[in-house]
Amino acid sequence: MKVLVVGGAGYIGSHTTYELIRAGHEVIVLDNLSTGSTENVHPQARFVWGDIRRKSDIVHVLNAEAQAGAPVEVAMHFAAKLIVPESVEQPLAYYENNVEGLRTMLEALVECGVKNIVFSSTAAVYGEPITPECDEGDATEPINPYGETKLACEKMIAWVGAAHDLNYCILRYFNVAGADASLKIGLDKDQLTHLIPLIMQAALGIREKLFIFGDDYDTPDGTCIRDYVHVTDLAQAHVLGAEYILNNKTSLLANLGSGSGFSVREVVDAARKLFEVPFEYAPRRPGDPAKLIARIERADKILKWKPQHNLQSILKSDYEFRKRRIG
Ligand code: UFG
Repeated sequence: MKVLVVGGAGYIGSHTTYELIRAGHEVIVLDNLSTGSTENVHPQARFVWGDIRRKSDIVHVLNAEAQAGAPVEVAMHFAAKLIVPESVEQPLAYYENNVEGLRTMLEALVECGVKNIVFSSTAAVYGEPITPECDEGDATEPINPYGETKLACEKMIAWVGAAHDLNYCILRYFNVAGADASLKIGLDKDQLTHLIPLIMQAALGIREKLFIFGDDYDTPDGTCIRDYVHVTDLAQAHVLGAEYILNNKTSLLANLGSGSGFSVREVVDAARKLFEVPFEYAPRRPGDPAKLIARIERADKILKWKPQHNLQSILKSDYEFRKRRIG
């Protein structure tokens, strides 16, 4: 299949591009390089500079491919802002980039007759879940602007899908970490707010210590519980999701996680079995729910997808990438 990966120079977009190419698909990456880098773009993918908020940038690429006789069959959306505390401070920037960006992209897809979209969503749409494990059918009550914008995007896609015969695959990510086995791509050192990369920076001596945000949550050790999934497992699910909606002319919404939860303290302790990690407790960070764990039966049943990595291999993978990059 021919795939347009919007945001393919970033962390998850670049890993998905690698997996698409490994599976024999053709990829065009469109990215404005605001956070991504052309170094992350697979050498066999074609790169086009463009901004998701400018419809003409997307239409131009789609029309060129159609006129050349091989139209884009699936578009993937990764061009979002995704940092929870930043979204609490700058909600308007999140609505502009995430909601308005997607609206523009959908307009371009409808105009150019692209019938399939794969969309990066997030566990943040669940908010503070009532049940210990989040099921796709659970209520969605985001507790931060990031989750709100992604939920608005999910709803927009469903309405546009119904009106314009657009199939969609919405994937709700839990906590993604790790790097491609080639170690050529990974989460860049300029964008680090996530737990595992910051643990590794403390282990490598790049930062003095890790701060654990909050020890008074309603969890067994008082620190937040999350579900960690390796970026390559996640990327492979996108390939399966795109093939599924294209071949079956249907839509799907599924969680992508590991199905297991680890507290921040447990992740730090698992890392401390491998490396020395200096850490200290600090106050809570705004916008953090106490516990988010995925139910992943739907992705398993429909896409035949099961994550291959575990917490240890995710930690090692991120460490190796950062050691090689020295950051
Ligand atoms: N944390 C620390 N210290 C740090 C960084 C993080 O204690 O230096 C804690 C956070 O407070 C939180 C946990 O580690 O409790 C995980 O935080 P991350 O920043 O790594 O990730 P988030 O859970 O905030 O968010 C990520 C994605 C979201 C997704 C969410 C789903 O960015 O898109 O996981 O679980 F919705």
